[in-house]
Amino acid sequence: MKVRALEADFTEIGPRWAENREFAQLYNAASICPAYLEPFLVKVMIEARKRLRPDQSVIDEQIRLFNLQEMQHCKQHMAFNKMLFAHYPEIEPMAKAYEADYNRFLKTRSLQANVAYCEGFEAMSAIPTTCFFEDFDELWAGADPRAEALWKWHLAEEYEHREVVHSVYTALYGRGPVAYFVRIYGFFFATAHILSNINKIGKYLLAREREGMTAEQLAASKAREKQVTKLASKHFFRHLRAILSPWYDPAKRQPPRGVSEVLARDNAPVPIVTRPALA
Ligand SMILES: [Fe+2]
Ligand SMILES: [Fe+2]
Repeated sequence: MKVRALEADFTEIGPRWAENREFAQLYNAASICPAYLEPFLVKVMIEARKRLRPDQSVIDEQIRLFNLQEMQHCKQHMAFNKMLFAHYPEIEPMAKAYEADYNRFLKTRSLQANVAYCEGFEAMSAIPTTCFFEDFDELWAGADPRAEALWKWHLAEEYEHREVVHSVYTALYGRGPVAYFVRIYGFFFATAHILSNINKIGKYLLAREREGMTAEQLAASKAREKQVTKLASKHFFRHLRAILSPWYDPAKRQPPRGVSEVLARDNAPVPIVTRPALA
């Protein structure tokens, strides 16, 4: 595991960075999440680190690198989101309300509940990692390479540190039935919390995109949105089955096509990775 710098500037990219505008707007909304979630992950991991035993130094070092990667992800999504807020100032209060939830979780929830939330998010990130690398080729083909580089760099590193939070969770709380149920609750709570916030912002951005559309254009827009959400949820049940298993071991996850090429580099240039040419 290592920290890679992303070599992208989002100042001029604009919110309509893909030919499929619904794809761009849905992932504009998704970009809000890491800017607030990942500082929360870092803060929770700092607390968890204090509870490790001296003989758990391997996990301690993994957390150190994990936190450095997450801070870079957060920084780049904040730069991207700054561009979004300039175009859509109305979404900034929604983002701030989402951020306030994390501040509340840090103050009011137990460390185990917060580590389980983080573990749930890290487990869930397997789903977009698979589809961004394997199922979105057609959508990336007409997209700005800076947006593609942002997501692929980020999600490749999510794959790279896939077992870190799970290792922390089991090191601190074990693998017994109580630990299992808290982990599963954390997964569903994190999924519902993150998706409800992303969907709220996505709904707003799509409504803005659809202003002034004719009935025919609106039907086409809804069909494109459906195409994206269908692809995005293609691997949901396969990953869910693995996550729900009491023997879940994220270290065994296989890398989606193209992830290893990104991880082999010391930085993340634009364009970041080659895709198979479309027929
Ligand atoms: Fe991240
Ligand atoms: Fe992560």
